[in-house]
Amino acid sequence: MVGKFFRKLVATTRFLLHFFSFSKNKTENTVIRSFASKIYAMSDFYSLKVDAIERLTPSSVSVSFEVPEDLKDIFAFTAGQYITLKQEIEGAEVRRAYSISCAPKSGQITVGIKKVKDGTFSVYANEVLKKGDLLDVMPPEGRFVFEPSPLSVSIAAFAAGSGITPIMSIAESVLASNAANKFVLVFGNQGPNEVMYAQQIQELQDKYTDRFFILHTFSRQPGAADALFGRIENSTVNLILKNKFKETSFDQFYLCGPEEMIQTVKTSLLNNHIAEEKILFELFTTTNTEDDLAENLDGKTSVKVLLDDETFELAMEKKELVLDAVLKNNIDAPYSCQGGVCSSCIARVTEGKAEMVKNQILTDGEVAEGLILTCQAHPLTPTLKIDYDDV
Ligand code: FES
Repeated sequence: MVGKFFRKLVATTRFLLHFFSFSKNKTENTVIRSFASKIYAMSDFYSLKVDAIERLTPSSVSVSFEVPEDLKDIFAFTAGQYITLKQEIEGAEVRRAYSISCAPKSGQITVGIKKVKDGTFSVYANEVLKKGDLLDVMPPEGRFVFEPSPLSVSIAAFAAGSGITPIMSIAESVLASNAANKFVLVFGNQGPNEVMYAQQIQELQDKYTDRFFILHTFSRQPGAADALFGRIENSTVNLILKNKFKETSFDQFYLCGPEEMIQTVKTSLLNNHIAEEKILFELFTTTNTEDDLAENLDGKTSVKVLLDDETFELAMEKKELVLDAVLKNNIDAPYSCQGGVCSSCIARVTEGKAEMVKNQILTDGEVAEGLILTCQAHPLTPTLKIDYDDV
């Protein structure tokens, strides 16, 4: 509903931007203009200059962007959110979502990018991208967030590999927002050389000695004496909850990394009687799911797409995925990962039926309401109406 509200305001904001450019009240003018600019810009890409590239590990870098003064409001973010980067690489447009690693108050936008085997953008970022280059960047989005509150909180996070990226932003925000907040981090890697943000983690330890705690786990090479050897598993969760921090009542758990790790930790937390609503997770990679659904579908569907108050019509094979068909028809729908991981492509089915190949993002309630990840959805009926505005 919030999405609809904002999208419906797109037309109004054009008016606001125009109208308030004549306002005599400078403060009001600035507030309204920044509000209006932000709404207007929600699904646009902006060309941002790469301000710095720093090597974090042999296979990962952090990339910082320069955000011009007039885009500061548009690129304001909440700890845990991500940005989508767009670039043409070898003649093809590539979009990838990367989590922001810095804290909202840092005044920067920095993302962590780990090189993926046979990857496209991650290899480009690690090997080709340089300071001064321009990249198309979509403003921050995402629901895996920490909102500071006046109450003190104890937070635990389980991250593996590059899943640490949004956790860095969340940890810094948790610790800086209240002098009584506590943050426990379990961080899994193959070996000590793979630890992204090692220096920043050390800085957090030095700065918040009695409020920030880290437990490293290494699956291939042993690390320091206080690190665990092995993957993050059930026993790791039990060690935190029943042993090391048994006196702590955690308010929220953040899980970020590969699907298998998230499932393991989530199940273990639930088995320890942690309420499901206290567990937030973000998938960084997902196991490939066979599209068995497509095999059993036949025939065509006429699709009506509502986007930014405009209606588009197209015909597609039921075997195709809705987002693929929408993009093939040059409709500028929002998307990023195309793998059911990021949630950028959500739309609402208002007529007909669609089914998702996989869904680890939308809750049962949201699915019952008609929301779909269009990058995962096949139409099941001869006609289908989807609304990108009402989400
Ligand atoms: S594009 Fe990322 S979930 Fe669909």
